[in-house]
Amino acid sequence: MANFFPRWSNLLPLKIAFCAGTALAGVALAFAYYATPKATTVGYQPAQPIPFSHKIHVDQLGLDCRYCHSFVDVSGTSNVPTGNTCWNCHQHVQKDSPKLAPLHKSMNVSYEGYDGKPIEWVRVHKAPDYVYFNHSAHVNRGISCQSCHGDVDKMEVVFQAESHSMAWCIDCHKAPEKHLRPLEEVFNFSYGDKDVAKYAKANSGIKTTEDLGLKLKQQFDIKPKTSCATCHH
Ligand code: HEC
Ligand code: HEC
Ligand code: HEC
Ligand code: HEC
Ligand code: HEC
Repeated sequence: MANFFPRWSNLLPLKIAFCAGTALAGVALAFAYYATPKATTVGYQPAQPIPFSHKIHVDQLGLDCRYCHSFVDVSGTSNVPTGNTCWNCHQHVQKDSPKLAPLHKSMNVSYEGYDGKPIEWVRVHKAPDYVYFNHSAHVNRGISCQSCHGDVDKMEVVFQAESHSMAWCIDCHKAPEKHLRPLEEVFNFSYGDKDVAKYAKANSGIKTTEDLGLKLKQQFDIKPKTSCATCHH
């Protein structure tokens, strides 16, 4: 008896099953990321070898983030400063503070326990190895440290303020206007609606940081991608 069905139709149920399976997996993946807080580690605050306070150094002394994190606007990874950066000041300031003993151990050749080894800061934020992230690509397009790390300038001890989950990244990639700032405001931790007037012409209708963000998005053609290959090579 002749086969009335064309050859490919034998594969049809399989194809349907495959497509349904893929769609389900997609839904499951989306659900896992959008509905469960599995990926979040908000609040993670490891103890550091020296109780270094951003509040003292940034908020009170007025140091710019780039004084210490000097690669953040020129490279993919930000750096944590070496002992030299601290020693510039602390060979003169607070010399006898017991809190600075590990700095003396690392930097001060006349210190009793000197070993010259780098200070071992404990990493707070860490994306998994299969994720591609780039600091300068954000900072140089008007995204502030504050949007991703919270109010670091007020932190006595750094903690993770935002979830850094995949949904979190994608939410901003879809609507960056909520966070976009003029480039000269990226390191300004008190930026708010009050600053907008400087950049908006009278009668332009721009009143909030988000209005301005939308204008910047258009002006500089800012279009963060959301395809998987953007963040997973
Ligand atoms: C005087 C130097 C100094 C300045 C200025 C400074 N930092 Fe830091 N920062 C450090 C050191 C040292 C560490 C590592 C120890 C720690 O986590 O507290 C650090 C850690 C961090 C971390 C956590 C890194 C990780 O492991 O994930 C973030 C985020 C950060 N700084 C952001 C900022 C921002 C934003 C500014 C500007 C508002 C800033 N820092 C200014 C020295 C500095
Ligand atoms: C630009 C100069 C400068 C730099 C750079 C600097 N500090 Fe400081 N630091 C100060 C000053 C000034 C104080 C004292 C502030 C006060 O007493 O209100 C201080 C205070 C401190 C204290 C508190 C000491 C105590 O006993 O209360 C610690 C700890 C400290 N710094 C660690 C560091 C570390 C670690 C680095 C490098 C990552 C660093 N500092 C870089 C100027 C600096
Ligand atoms: C778009 C979000 C975003 C912005 C903006 C951002 N960061 Fe980060 N930061 C991250 C993520 C994500 C990580 C973890 C990266 C990794 O593990 O590869 C991180 C890690 C760090 C680290 C640890 C070292 C490293 O590179 O992994 C430091 C220090 C840091 N950020 C400082 C800063 C400072 C200072 C600014 C502002 C000048 C800033 N960040 C702006 C998201 C951001
Ligand atoms: C607060 C907003 C915001 C957050 C959060 C954010 N991004 Fe972005 N991202 C942007 C903007 C804006 C751009 C620049 C788009 C452009 O230049 O058109 C960008 C660009 C990128 C690029 C392209 C860089 C290049 O080399 O071209 C990558 C990769 C990226 N983001 C990864 C991530 C990852 C991974 C996360 C989460 C850990 C993340 N982003 C979180 C706003 C954000
Ligand atoms: C803007 C950046 C960005 C984009 C676009 C993106 N991802 Fe992710 N993805 C991440 C980050 C960040 C993580 C890690 C989150 C964490 O630390 O839990 C992640 C994690 C994952 C994981 C790991 C799940 C697990 O449980 O280990 C898978 C699978 C994944 N992504 C698939 C995808 C697929 C498929 C797409 C395209 C539809 C995509 N991603 C698009 C940033 C992104």
